[in-house]
Formats: sequence, structure tokens, C-alpha cells
Amino acid sequence: MMLLSLEHLSKTFGEPAAPLHALQDISFQVQRGEFVCLVGPSGSGKTTLLHIIAGLLPPTEGRVLLDGEPIREPNPRVGIVFQSSNLMPWRTVLDNAALPLELRGVPRGQRYEIARHSIHLVALDGFEHHYPHQLSGGMQQRAAIARTLVQNPEIMLLDEPFASLDALTREYLDQELMRVHETEGITVLMVTHAIHEAVWLADRVLILSQHPGRLKADIAIPLPRPRTDALLTDPHYLALIQTVRAHIDRPTRPK
Ligand SMILES: Nc1ncnc2c1ncn2[C@@H]1O[C@H](COP(=O)(O)OP(=O)(O)O)[C@@H](O)[C@H]1O
Ligand SMILES: [Mg+2]
Repeated sequence: MMLLSLEHLSKTFGEPAAPLHALQDISFQVQRGEFVCLVGPSGSGKTTLLHIIAGLLPPTEGRVLLDGEPIREPNPRVGIVFQSSNLMPWRTVLDNAALPLELRGVPRGQRYEIARHSIHLVALDGFEHHYPHQLSGGMQQRAAIARTLVQNPEIMLLDEPFASLDALTREYLDQELMRVHETEGITVLMVTHAIHEAVWLADRVLILSQHPGRLKADIAIPLPRPRTDALLTDPHYLALIQTVRAHIDRPTRPK
């Protein structure tokens, strides 16, 4: 059975007299263990889609199934990492990472043990007792990923998690994320608007059209793993980037 199924999902905001159709009739499935990237122009409903999958926002029509069970509210099996890390400034990395377990009433010793393991997965060992303001932007995002991993989610949703970071940090974090995906066998659905990043990371790239967001293309990326820097000049990789690029609506000059 597919891990995640979206069935005819639509989302409309606003008053019935002036509806804003953010998403229209989106259906797709994600297999357990897949790494899927979702790309689309700004305003195509990517964030809205992740919020619906995470159970944070109800769809107007259609439904989301996790292992065949409808998702209607936040569920620890679905982890989400937002564009900004949303760490609590008065909590250390360890206490931020342990927060979801604390809210579930997991005893202190046990939640710290799990949080330390997640901190290790994102390679922040040694920074457990630092506060967010003592970390770089990339380290803050890694702490946010650790906080999501403590719940041992089956699928991790990421909304442009590295968008505000410099290119080198971003490449490094992409590699770290691929490593966590491979070692933990976790399923990933990540929003990005960097086409080369999507092709580099994903098994499949889904493309949303501009307003209303519809699923425009679903492109398989059959590049071998582990993916290394050698790919960067691989003609197959470069051709896939062109294929994805050709499907994306781009802004045009008003007539
Ligand atoms: N809570 C909301 N209320 C009204 N309109 C919204 C709300 N959230 C998003 N929208 C609108 O839905 C559309 C898609 O937004 P969003 O999901 O943020 O797109 P993306 O993440 O692809 O940039 C946009 O037109 C946006 O203004
Ligand atoms: Mg967004």
C-alpha cells in the first residue's frame, strides 16, 4: 500500500463571492522510502498543500490518506519542518529538540536520550546546550529537523527549509538530508523552488502550476544513489534539469 495518497484535493480560501482557488484537484501518491520534491512558482499552493498533508489545515474537497487512514489533524507520524526554524529562543538545542516528546509527556531521561540521537543524526553533537541565537542559520534549520525527527515520523514534510541560506551551506545540508533519508529510511516530501536541488535530491519531482495550483507534471529521476558531485556534470542529470525547467510556469511581462 502507498504510504501517502492524496485524492482529488482542493483548497479554496476567502468568501464564496470572491473565492481564491489555491489548489485544484490534486492527486498523487508517495511510496514508503521515496524522496519526492515539489516545485512550482510562488503562490502555486505548495505551503498550503504541506499544511493540509500535515493535518494543520482542512482541505475544501478531497482527502489525504496515510497508510489508508485519513489525516484530519496533526499526527506524529507526519513531521513538518517549516521555512523558518521556529525554535524557542529561551530553550537550548536539546530542549527544543525534546519539545514534542515533552508535550506528549515522555519522561525527561527518555526524551533527552531520543533528542540526543536526533541531534546526532543532523550532526549537531556538541551544540546541545547552545541557544538558537548562538547558532548559524543552517544550524538552526538542522535543530528544527532534529525536533521533527524525535517523533520518529514515517514521512517528513519540508517547506523550503534551506531557502534563506547561502548556496554552499545549502548544498551541505542537502547532502546531510539525503544521508538521513538513506540511513533512516524515512520518506521525504520537500518543497523547493530550486530546480537543480530538486533533481539532485529526488526520486520524483512533482510540478505545480501557477494559480490555481494543479499537478502539472510528475517526473521520475532515475539517477543512481548515493548521489555524488560527479553527477553535477553528468549529461543525464543536466537533461533532467532541462525537462523539469520546461514544465514550470514562469512569470511573464504584463501585456
Ligand atoms: N490562510 C490563507 N488565507 C487566504 N489565502 C491564502 C492563505 N494561505 C495561502 N493563501 C493563498 O493561497 C495561494 C497559495 O499560497 P501558498 O500555499 O503560500 O503558495 P506557495 O507556498 O506555493 O508560495 C496564494 O494565493 C496565497 O495568497
Ligand atoms: Mg510557500
